[in-house]
Amino acid sequence: MTEQDPKDALRALEVEALDAIDRAQDPEALEAVRIDYLGRKDGRISAILRGLGSMSPERRPAVGQEANRVKEVVADALQNRERSLAGPASSGIEDLTLPGRGPWKGGLHPVTQAVDEIWHIFRDLGFTRARGPEADTEWYNFEALNTPLDHPAADEQDTLYLVDSVLLRSHTSPVQMRTMETHEPPIRIIAPGWVYRRDTYDATHTPAFMQVEGLVIDEGVTFVDFKATLAEFARRYWGPDTQTRFRPSFFPFTEPSAEVDVKRVITRPDGSKEETDWLEIMGAGMVDPAVLENAGYDAERYTGFAFGMGPARIAMLKHGVDDLRTFFENDVRFLDQFV
Ligand code: PHE
Repeated sequence: MTEQDPKDALRALEVEALDAIDRAQDPEALEAVRIDYLGRKDGRISAILRGLGSMSPERRPAVGQEANRVKEVVADALQNRERSLAGPASSGIEDLTLPGRGPWKGGLHPVTQAVDEIWHIFRDLGFTRARGPEADTEWYNFEALNTPLDHPAADEQDTLYLVDSVLLRSHTSPVQMRTMETHEPPIRIIAPGWVYRRDTYDATHTPAFMQVEGLVIDEGVTFVDFKATLAEFARRYWGPDTQTRFRPSFFPFTEPSAEVDVKRVITRPDGSKEETDWLEIMGAGMVDPAVLENAGYDAERYTGFAFGMGPARIAMLKHGVDDLRTFFENDVRFLDQFV
């Protein structure tokens, strides 16, 4: 029978000792473990260290080094376990170095934050704020906006009616007409507000949601102003590297109409940059002359553009949130991330 290599014996002792330390449930049991392995007289690790003297000079340094390492590891583990067994509850001593708990702070809802950021960008570009009623008439919600009531757009939106011809507005575009009726150009307004649709509640739809409407009317407003203003908004909101794309679309109250997409540049934690896919952020277009005429404006003299975006969608894209419902359930553990 060959004698066991003392280094193997040491490693086995190490595993065994660490396990015993883990299992010790009170200071007395831990002290027994310490005596068993590191006790000066009969400790099993101490015994090997003591035996070094009788070892051949060739083996001594390697075994000695290993024995000292194991002794240190076990001593450290004993000390850590001792500390955790003597936690604040059992010692009655609080850890005075723990940082204090501050008062809980509330904050603005992430969608409200998005509305404010959008509004502040346009305010800096010279826009003012406008508003209109959430309960509005078919005229303002549809007909004034060049949308006959039998038009698919009127139907598509699956409107929530309150009483005959009065409904919960299905978009903020009625504020366009209400503003034009009471103001002369030049007009540059932003109108955030709630809108309502008979939609099924899911990851991307809620029956009540926010929109932010924009309208610009003046002499000589061109498609270039339209594109440049919205591209500037996108750069200010998403960052200077943001690209903008205008995809042809259709709305009864704009001609031509576009859906606006952005491509963002995201900086990863390691500093490298990544481009996103194209993300749709709004519907927009040049105001249809029929709408200007409904407002009593001279459509030969004035032109303009309008846009409508969903701040919840924009907040989702900004924060990487993939379920709209989390914004409505108002779980403070979720909302706290945005404070
Ligand atoms: N009102 C449109 C919608 O809700 C968006 C829009 C606003 C489109 C203004 C063009 C101009 O989808």
